[in-house]
Amino acid sequence: MQQKRFRVRPLCKAFGAELTGVDLSRPVDKELYAAIRAAFVDYQLLLFRDQDLSPAGHVAIGRSFGEVQIHVMSQYHADGFPELYFLSNLDEHGEPSGRHPDRGTLAWHSDGSWRRVTGQATMLYAIEVPRVGGETHFCDMYAAYEALGEDMKARVAGLRAVHNLDFSRTRRHGEDPMSEAQRREVPPVDHPVIRTHPETGRKCIFLGDHAETIVGLDYQDGRRLVEEINALAIRPELVYRHVWRPGDLAIWDNRCLMHRATPYDTARERRVMRRCTILGEVPH
Ligand code: OGA
Ligand code: MN
Repeated sequence: MQQKRFRVRPLCKAFGAELTGVDLSRPVDKELYAAIRAAFVDYQLLLFRDQDLSPAGHVAIGRSFGEVQIHVMSQYHADGFPELYFLSNLDEHGEPSGRHPDRGTLAWHSDGSWRRVTGQATMLYAIEVPRVGGETHFCDMYAAYEALGEDMKARVAGLRAVHNLDFSRTRRHGEDPMSEAQRREVPPVDHPVIRTHPETGRKCIFLGDHAETIVGLDYQDGRRLVEEINALAIRPELVYRHVWRPGDLAIWDNRCLMHRATPYDTARERRVMRRCTILGEVPH
């Protein structure tokens, strides 16, 4: 029988917790699942170390959180599972290629904000990690909202941003753009810049690198405002920097955190990560 309890070690002051004593390669019963789910909502980011997670097991844990995203960029699907997204710098011989698989991940973002139903949770599993760099940083969007001045809060209240994967992909990884069919599948959508978390009722900034402009503003004015709010959202004191070890599984809440990867030497180091994103709801 799966263990019923785990220990919680906070990762930083604001959010994040490592849960120890859980083996996710074994079945997760209802009681344990409920405890993990409650910790996820409370801590925003959960870390499980030393996990031996098969692709099928990864998908199964994803499904326990909800409907799993089938990513439109099907060239990243992993291990025969369209529910998994593979981030690897290795070439067909298994050697570092010198190419970053997705430079869009290097800018602060929220997974799947480019769909009407956005990403709820992401489960990112480390298979191979570089000696230096290739960290993932997380920033608390509840606290970022609270830290906005009253003037800024009033200015952004009611604004909606256009999120567009084609925009961010072209900007960050333009040498490998979306196909026409992929573009058609995910047309731009708009979401509130300040959303209310459906489970905690707390307000948070919901923007990031997939946000292109602001509804109702001139395009360039909207671009500038997106950049301005994105810059205000990221404050060093609200950031947790995760240094990966192989076997780490991080589960985070995309509704109230933004994240980014940091660069590494893609010609010399090896970095292989597997991701599963679970759909949530239409932001309000
Ligand atoms: C992602 C992502 C972070 C990382 O896959 O969406 O942001 O550290 N990855 O690779
Ligand atoms: Mn991401």
